[in-house]
Formats: sequence, C-alpha cells, structure tokens
Amino acid sequence: MMWFEDLTTESAKTITVSLSKELPPEPVFDSKYRRAPSRGYSLNHDQTVLAVKNALRYVPEALHSKLAPEFLDELLTRGRIYAYRYRPKGAIKAKPVDEYKGILEARALQVMIDNNLDFDVALYPYELVTYGESGQVCQNWMQYQLIKKYLESMTDQQTLAVSSGHPVGLFPSHRNAPRAILTNGLMVGMFDTPEAFNQSCAMGNSQYAQMTAGGWMYIGPQGIVHGTYITLLNAGRLYLRIPDDQDLRGRVFLTSGLGGMSGAQAKAIEIAGGVGVIAEVDKTRVDTRLQQGWLRKYSADLDEVFRWVDDYRKRKEPVSIGYYGNVVDLWKYVVDNNTKIDLSTDQTSCHDAYGGGYTPQGVTFEEGRELLKSDRAKLRRLVDKSLRTQFELIRTMTQRGTHFWDYGNSFLKAVFDAGVKAVAKNGVDTTAGFVFPSYVEDIMGPICFDYGYGPFRWVCLTGRKEDLAETDRTALSCIDPKKRGQDRDNYIWIRDAEKNALVVGSQARILYADARGRVRIGLEFNKRIREGKIGPVMLGRDHHDVGGTDSPFRETANIKDGSNITSDMAHQCWAGNAARGMTLVVLSNGGGVGTGKAINGGFGLVLDGSERVDTIIRSSLDWDVMGGVARRAWARNEHAIETAVEWNREMLGAGHITLPFIPKTGLVEDLVKRTLGKV
Ligand SMILES: NC(=O)c1ccc[n+]([C@@H]2O[C@H](COP(=O)([O-])OP(=O)(O)OC[C@H]3O[C@@H](n4cnc5c(N)ncnc54)[C@H](O)[C@@H]3O)[C@@H](O)[C@H]2O)c1
Repeated sequence: MMWFEDLTTESAKTITVSLSKELPPEPVFDSKYRRAPSRGYSLNHDQTVLAVKNALRYVPEALHSKLAPEFLDELLTRGRIYAYRYRPKGAIKAKPVDEYKGILEARALQVMIDNNLDFDVALYPYELVTYGESGQVCQNWMQYQLIKKYLESMTDQQTLAVSSGHPVGLFPSHRNAPRAILTNGLMVGMFDTPEAFNQSCAMGNSQYAQMTAGGWMYIGPQGIVHGTYITLLNAGRLYLRIPDDQDLRGRVFLTSGLGGMSGAQAKAIEIAGGVGVIAEVDKTRVDTRLQQGWLRKYSADLDEVFRWVDDYRKRKEPVSIGYYGNVVDLWKYVVDNNTKIDLSTDQTSCHDAYGGGYTPQGVTFEEGRELLKSDRAKLRRLVDKSLRTQFELIRTMTQRGTHFWDYGNSFLKAVFDAGVKAVAKNGVDTTAGFVFPSYVEDIMGPICFDYGYGPFRWVCLTGRKEDLAETDRTALSCIDPKKRGQDRDNYIWIRDAEKNALVVGSQARILYADARGRVRIGLEFNKRIREGKIGPVMLGRDHHDVGGTDSPFRETANIKDGSNITSDMAHQCWAGNAARGMTLVVLSNGGGVGTGKAINGGFGLVLDGSERVDTIIRSSLDWDVMGGVARRAWARNEHAIETAVEWNREMLGAGHITLPFIPKTGLVEDLVKRTLGKV
C-alpha cells in the first residue's frame, strides 16, 4: 500500500459527514425540462484524469469503480461532471422553512438553495443552472447533498465555507458570524481568462455563478421586471422631461426581445403606463409571454400593430404589443411611415451576436438556427449587414426625436464590430464610448445607485402568501412617496405588486430602496416577526446594486474617476457584510457580463424577530449600501456626494464618509494644457 493510500484509509475514519456508501439509483430525466447544452470537452489526457479523480473525492471508495466510467462519460458528453445520480428524485421545491432540518439560519439557506433549483424557476434544473445560461447553484449534485448534510447538522457557533459550490467544511466561529461564506469562480489574476476558467470548471474546481444563482438568492423573473420598470420610468423623466408624479401614459416605447430578461420589458412597460412594441423572431417566446400574461397581444402584420399603437396611445392606455418578426423590419416601418416613437432600446442577445443571439434581417429564426449549424461565415455576414441597417434606421429616428439607449446587451459594440465606426464617440475606436448612452451610465447609475437605491428583496420563509401580503403592506408603510420621484415609483410598485402577480417559486418580493429605506423595512419586518404576525424572513438583494458589484461595463459604468477597473469596492462590501453578521455572504467573478469582466457580491440575512438581529440590520444594511455610495461620492458623482453629506450629518460622529474636494472648473485642465501643451 502506498503511503497516501494508507493516509486515505486513516483519514476516512475521521470523515463523519459524507455521502452514503450506497449507490443512488440511475438518474431519470423528465423531457419537459430544458437541458443545458454540452459545455464542450477540451481537456487533455492528464486533465481528464484529474477531473474524474476530483469528482470521486466526494464518494466513498467502494463506489469508485462503478462511478468513474459514469463520470468520465458525463465529462466527455456534457463537458462537466454533474453526478446526475445524486440528484434527489422528482421535483425540488422551496418547502416551508419548518420542514427542513437544522437551526433556523441553516434551514433558511436550504429554502433558498431549493428555490434556485425548482423546475419552475431554474433554466436548466438538471445541470443546477438557475439563470443566465450558465449560472450554477453548485457544480454537481454531490456538492448539493453534502452542503445539505452540513446545513442540517450546523450549530449557531459554526460557519460553512463554500468555494465555487464545493463545501470546504464547517468551521467553529461564533453566534454573530455568517453561517455561510461563499465564493465563486475567483481566479488568480494572470489566470483570469475564459480559457483557464473553463478548464477549471471542467476539472471540478470552479463554477460560473452569475449573481444570485451561486449566491442562493434568485427570486424568479420579478427581479428584472422591477429594474426594467424603473429604467423605463426614469428614461421618460430624463429624456422626455416627464414630471416625477407622472408615468409613461401616451408614450411609445420600441424594443426587441421577449426572452429571458428581455421578456420583462412587456410587463414593465404596462406597469409604467406606456405603449410598448416589442419585436421577437422566435414564436415560442411570443407564446410563452402571452400565456404568462406578460404580453397583451401580438401580430405579424405591422399595419395592424401600429393601428393598435395609435389606438392605445390616443386613449392613453397601457399595453404591450408583440411584433412577431425581425426588429430591423420594425425599425424600417417606423422610419418609412414617420411614426412617432418616444423611447427605444434593443434587447436581442448581442453579447453573442454571431453565436445565435441576433437573428439577422431577411431570415427567420429557424433559418438562423440552421445557418448556425451549417454556415457560420454566412450567418456572420448577414448579422453584420443587419446590424448596420438597424443602426442607420435608429440614427434616422433619433434625428427625428426618438431617444435610444443600450440595454447592457453590447448592441452598440456589436454594431461597431459590424464595421460601423460612426457608432463610436470618437469615430475611431470604443475607448471614448458610443454615440448613444448605456442604461447604467445615464439612468440606473445617476438616478438610482448614486442615491443608494437598489434591488432590495426578501423571501417569506414560511412560504405563506399571507406573510408576503403583510410584508408588502409593511414595506409600503415605510416609504414616503413624496420624498423623491424614485420613492414614488417604489411606492407604486409595492402597492400594486400583489395585483401584478409576479411570484414564481418562493413567496418573494423585490423592492428598490435606499439605505435608510432598507434599514427601516428590515426593522419593521423583524418587529412583525417578534410580534408573531409573520414567520421568519430572509432579506437579500440582487448583486446588480449600489456597492456589491464592480463592473466597468455595467454597475460601475458611471464611475468616471478611472477607478471603474478596480474591484476594491465589491471586496470591501463583502468583507464588511461578513464582519457585521449577515447570515450569508457571497463574492463571485463575472455575473451578467462574463468572467473576468466583473466582481460581484451579495448577502442573505435571516430575520428571526430577535433584538440581536435588529443590531445587525442597522449596521449591515446601512454599510452594504453606504459603502457603495461612499465610493461613488469619491468619484465625484453629484447625487452620491449629496447622499453622503446627508449621511454624515445624520451620523453625528458615529460614522463619517470621506468626501472629495473639487477644484474649480478649468483649473487643472488649464494647468495641464499650459504645462504639457495642447495635445
Ligand atoms: N434586462 C436587463 O436588465 C439586462 C441587463 C443586462 C443585460 N441584458 C442583456 O440583454 C440581452 C437579452 O437578454 P435575454 O436574457 O432576454 O436573452 P434571450 O436570448 O433570452 O432573449 C433575446 C431575444 O431576442 C430575440 N431576437 C434575436 N434577434 C432578434 C431580432 N433581430 N429581432 C427580433 N428578435 C430578436 C431572440 O429570439 C430572443 O428571444 C442579453 O444580451 C443580456 O445580457 C439585459
């Protein structure tokens, strides 16, 4: 026996938390549910050996000879080892918190994990992908089982460490420490490349977590509806000068995409009171949104579409109208007919324009899919031509008064890649940005994040609808709709949330709120729990927020002091949340924009009605937001300075944000010009 085999035998005796020695039954797949495509097999011989050995670390030795070939087969055919056999049979659902084993916080985490893997919620439930094509809860079902075992046995003096889905172990800590510390996909700088990362994932050492997938805080599509609603309203205020107390009634919004995130546009434009026309080439997507009630009506006939538009616009009635066809044809129609369009964007999947994300004008969705398989070069030529045409049409409309913005889907970059230099601000390259703004740069950043408003959310852990209704009422009572336009929007959102039937999966709610609002709502919820009016609640947020995420193309796109390529803020936010006693803290690479392009973090905080938790709410929710505001203020963002000044005043010495001194306009510019000469 080799020395390490000996060690293995010895170490096996100390393993008290492990998977069973019994082989689980063969996996069964229900064909009703979408499956993740193969991620591709690109490992060499040695890496393949490592990948299989790595997966076998989770299972008792007696099962190795049976499972090794199965794992190898999964790796070769699916590009990953998911250990399908270890998936619990049938549907996974977030059960009421009392039906799980363990201390409250650990049971709450099990609710959150199971919700992320619900057939009705997850994109590819068998591959543990919650959303965003590849955002996983953990890498494989063995990790899922082991995490569950740890959570079931954890005490309130222990912390579970989880690295990219791998439960590292339970470690002694203390009552106010996080119960779970999660990280995902973090790579050492020089290896932070898509290639090294993908290899690492295939070998079972890393995973792509998106944001709330690997952060165990996804609450279904309502999260994105609220964000889209806010973006649309604020676009109206900014570009159309609509007063704060009005909505988009009688205004027309043109866009594309009824897919994963883009589908939220249909629901959001109706809630915002406007008339929306949304082009979609895939009939199944149109049908899904119609059945769901998020899209009111659709037609493939543009004359009919615009007869409806006219009618609703005149009556100032909200509606979402699908155009089953290509968005370029839609743009051409409005140019040819000189139709008035107020607001517009594009939400085709241009981050992957040549890989099927954008269907070019002149081909159907099905023909586009066929070209993807048979002639990628031709598809690429058609995509480029179509994007060039679309850009010209948009430009014509913007000259006539339509406002257009990029919706974080890399549309403008795709136009540039298609050969249109005129889309770049400097007419040469993309370093100075584009001729149209992006939604975070113009809208979400200055109007929401700089004030501290972001996607706060909660889950009623009992799973009771009545609890959610009570939390909605409680949150409503915490908002002063007269304070700012943003508060009015949030007030209306939460007032109408139940009526808008947004829940998919657990009884959860999203509500944009600023630091003060979040603390107030958190304390009120905790009080209601203490009084026995509702059961325990999990607070959290999307990572697409004020301080949790450093992402130069999105969340930190309106940070203009050159620091938007650093990720200190996200790290600070995460560590600060851990120090203040959040139940769960998570820090991940990528999210939304891709690995290496962002660092994002989030949290979960279980409210149990105790005064101990009141203290955590006060310090951690405030820090979570104000750390981000402080960074934005330091970058000289006007509203962030205003918010930080207010906070400094309120804290009266209990806290202090460092604020920038700002030189007089021209002082530095003139000095540099005089010294260096005009460049
Ligand atoms: N909504 C947001 O807040 C948000 C934020 C950041 C990024 N995004 C980006 O928006 C894009 C869309 O996201 P998604 O999850 O909806 O993707 P998706 O692929 O599910 O949906 C895009 C839809 O566009 C349709 N489409 C493609 N080309 C078309 C064309 N020429 N005409 C009409 N329809 C066409 C597709 O059939 C598809 O249904 C992505 O690039 C995403 O990264 C969205």
